[in-house]
Amino acid sequence: MKIGWRAAIWYLTFHSVYGLVKYLPMLSGDVARWLILKAFLRRVDGWVWFRDNVTIWFPEGVSIGGGSMVGENCFLDGYGGLTIGRNVLIAHNTSLISEDHGFATRRIPIRYQPKTAAPIVVEDDVWIGCGVRVLKGVKIGTGAIVAAGAVVTHDVPPFAIVGGVPARVLSMRPTDTEVSPAELAQTALARLSA
Ligand SMILES: CC(C)(COP(=O)(O)OP(=O)(O)OC[C@H]1O[C@@H](n2cnc3c(N)ncnc32)[C@H](O)[C@@H]1OP(=O)(O)O)[C@@H](O)C(=O)NCCC(=O)NCCS
Repeated sequence: MKIGWRAAIWYLTFHSVYGLVKYLPMLSGDVARWLILKAFLRRVDGWVWFRDNVTIWFPEGVSIGGGSMVGENCFLDGYGGLTIGRNVLIAHNTSLISEDHGFATRRIPIRYQPKTAAPIVVEDDVWIGCGVRVLKGVKIGTGAIVAAGAVVTHDVPPFAIVGGVPARVLSMRPTDTEVSPAELAQTALARLSA
């Protein structure tokens, strides 16, 4: 991808401004990061926790829903598009990478070959454990859990628990028999605050 001078200035501005707050400790840092990322990301719906040292490439391709949390040292890549739903938990040291280097020919160094890209979609209420890698073109269904250390190369069905390299379905989350009034109230409160 060729980056024009306008885009270059925009990226420089983003990384300079975001760099000022990227490493601030939690709470004050969380608020500062949220304010700045709300201005630069494609979409930030409601309050989102961005912990310290979250790296974001191509922020204009990243959308995230309210009530979500992005843990320390995570890496979000919006090059091919990255859509994260509401109430998504992304634990520390996790990378979501929506691009690959091209390697179609052996005659040209990989770094000069055109990139390939495809959007990543993480639906609502997903929990991604620490140290996970989610690769381009993957959709993680509502309510799914990705175990620590997994490399996700294929779509994850809703409410599945996946793990391993490459990630495979380990089990499905149990189905609920009934929801208590207390649980309903707690969910309603969480939605209001998101
Ligand atoms: C996915 C997870 C929630 C499953 O928890 P659980 O239901 O208690 O799972 P269990 O420990 O009973 O393990 C069930 C099976 O999955 C396997 N498994 C568990 N975690 C795994 C992992 N990270 N990678 C690969 N396999 C895993 C177990 O070996 C076990 O397999 P077996 O039945 O063949 O022995 C948990 O293992 C995990 O990865 N949590 C993420 C922790 C984290 O990153 N926290 C960050 C703070 S938010």
